Amino acid sequence: MGKKVLKTKLCDMLGIEYPILSAGMGPTLIGESAGAPVELVVAVSEAGGLGVLGGAGSTVDELQKAIREIRAQTDKPFGVDLLLPKHLDVGGAMGMKGIDQVPLSKILERLPKSHMDWFHKIKKEMELPDVEIMVRMNTTTMRPKESIQVCIEEKVPLFCAGLGNPGFMVEDAHAVGMKVLGITGNQKNARRMAESGIDLLVAQGHEGGGHTGRIGTMVLIPAAIDAAYPVPVLAAGGIGDGRGVAAALAMGCVGVWIGTRFLATKEGGALDINKQKIIESTDEGTRVSKAYTGKTLRASYNRFHDIWDASKLRPLPFPTQVLLSSALLASFIEADKTAYVGGLAGQVSVLIDEIKPARQVLEELVEETVEILAKKLPENVKVQ
Ligand SMILES: Cc1cc2nc3c(=O)[nH]c(=O)nc-3n(C[C@H](O)[C@H](O)[C@H](O)COP(=O)(O)O)c2cc1C
Repeated sequence: MGKKVLKTKLCDMLGIEYPILSAGMGPTLIGESAGAPVELVVAVSEAGGLGVLGGAGSTVDELQKAIREIRAQTDKPFGVDLLLPKHLDVGGAMGMKGIDQVPLSKILERLPKSHMDWFHKIKKEMELPDVEIMVRMNTTTMRPKESIQVCIEEKVPLFCAGLGNPGFMVEDAHAVGMKVLGITGNQKNARRMAESGIDLLVAQGHEGGGHTGRIGTMVLIPAAIDAAYPVPVLAAGGIGDGRGVAAALAMGCVGVWIGTRFLATKEGGALDINKQKIIESTDEGTRVSKAYTGKTLRASYNRFHDIWDASKLRPLPFPTQVLLSSALLASFIEADKTAYVGGLAGQVSVLIDEIKPARQVLEELVEETVEILAKKLPENVKVQ
């Protein structure tokens, strides 16, 4: 079979062959590796899509190293995704300016007594081991200004902001030839971000893995396209095969931003147990909870969701809740209590039943999409 052609104006904007981006995916837990590591980025970009590095859990130095490793392995365009907190001096705000890392047990002492009493109760009842994790205070999320500077110095082709509005950096990015992408989960933010001058907008629906909003993809896409016009929109949330890509393009998107399907690949950075949960998942296999980060986040269903709900505790504000959940989840993993572990994943897990190389996933997405748009639709739908 000859090579397929699937092009939109996104391909011209970014200098890529297919309008398919692998989503930026950071770590689930403190200490876990990113869901979208260098290997995944290189594989997707080399296959003709655009791979986006999940830079959220790395230190600023690791970010720079990863960008240079990508460049050493491919001359194709790629992206970097960071989470930009509202406060651009997070370390300072936490009274930890200049400190690089702190044992998690030391910070846990500062959490509310109600939450710590619950934490100790669960550990005792389930006979969980103590696991010490070092909390890094020098991650890109804690040091957003320096991290953005690194991306600009390295002239990363596409900067993606997974959280926050990157409008403030557009001028500096454009000055070195970079493009800037924002992500929204509702129409109001789509309008706000488009007005701030970004080049591209991802509209991620409720179905998506990781932090997610309340609006389903089917409604959000047209609403975001209308609100963001003339800024081009990419669809995200629930896209796992060519049917999803074809639908997004038919609705007017210039491309797609795919997380869970690329996470469940050979190169995807999730723990094996979390990849396995995606493969075994039904359509009811994920759940939105504030248990992990304090914000609504979709992950593979597991019993951590149940014990958190039963606690009746209010989630701590983002990112403090991450400290509590990471401490417990690290103990569950150490104790091999896999029923209590599940990584970030979207509803699309139901469509995924095999871990494949990322290149194969991308090629199949392209083939299926072309098949539908070029052949199947006319057979099924009569139009004049
Ligand atoms: C494991 C995992 C980690 C994620 N981490 C991030 C992140 O660090 N930054 C971000 O912008 N989005 C993150 N997301 C959301 C994805 O970028 C993307 O929007 C989402 O996965 C799309 O929905 P899908 O999973 O249905 O494809 C994450 C998603 C997953 C599954």
